[in-house]
Amino acid sequence: MDHLTDREFDRICTYLSRTLGLNMQSKRVLLECRLSHERERLGCVSFSSYFDMVERGADPEITNRFIDLATTHYTYFLRGREQFDFLRTVALPELERSRPRRTWNILCAGCSTGEECYTASMIVEDYSRDHAIPPVRITGVDVSSAAIAKARQAVYHPMHVEKVPSHWLSDYFTHTGETYAATAPIRRRVAFAQANLCDPGALRRRYDLIICRNVIIYFDERTREQVLDNLYRHLAVSGYLILGRAEILRDRARFDYRKDSVYQKRPEATTL
Ligand SMILES: C[S@@+](CC[C@H](N)C(=O)[O-])C[C@H]1O[C@@H](n2cnc3c(N)ncnc32)[C@H](O)[C@@H]1O
Repeated sequence: MDHLTDREFDRICTYLSRTLGLNMQSKRVLLECRLSHERERLGCVSFSSYFDMVERGADPEITNRFIDLATTHYTYFLRGREQFDFLRTVALPELERSRPRRTWNILCAGCSTGEECYTASMIVEDYSRDHAIPPVRITGVDVSSAAIAKARQAVYHPMHVEKVPSHWLSDYFTHTGETYAATAPIRRRVAFAQANLCDPGALRRRYDLIICRNVIIYFDERTREQVLDNLYRHLAVSGYLILGRAEILRDRARFDYRKDSVYQKRPEATTL
């Protein structure tokens, strides 16, 4: 593995902070590991010459691969199970009462390779078996084009579905050889888009529920506030914002804390 000079490390940190809001100050070794192979693959003599190519942005594939390598995509089905229990037992019944007719919109912001979106879709599918609900639209966005491409495929290896209960495996996946593919009814209500949450125009509609877990933890403080502010503006009144277990929202003027890192937008709060 090659080592970054202090100057190279600063340059990369500055770029990632400016473009994605990421705080990479404590991630030097991680960046060295992840970028060494890419530098070699492109035949660059140093990290500096590799990073010149990234910054120039002439080849979108090189920039996209850099973003993919600099971000962490760890995720799995049913991650944060108690939050999905909240979706099933509280959020969906509330939506059924308050919005019985129009489409319910759910956003997974920083959805990585799609497991979070499809987990939500499976919960909705279970719920719809006993309840007459309107259509549900689940939108997954992520800055990594490679993660979005995998999410769209909806094909997973056995180790990725280890935590999936057996009745979901048989009802909601097609098992072929070494892969599990989410079935059409589960995929149909899910759509994906590549988007940078730091871009204030990244989100288009108002959502009844926003899941943004294990994403803002990587941001610097200013970006975290800006992104949360944008999510707040795109959340329906009384809608839920679900963060990761380690992510704390101190804004009690606009949100009420429910439980397990689930926050509810206060009724008097304003939306778009
Ligand atoms: C650790 S994964 C979390 C996946 C999923 N939400 C979960 O909790 O399992 C973090 C994801 O956030 C994405 N991400 C990081 N910065 C982003 C940004 N500025 N805009 C959109 N997505 C971003 C990464 O590409 C990565 O896929």
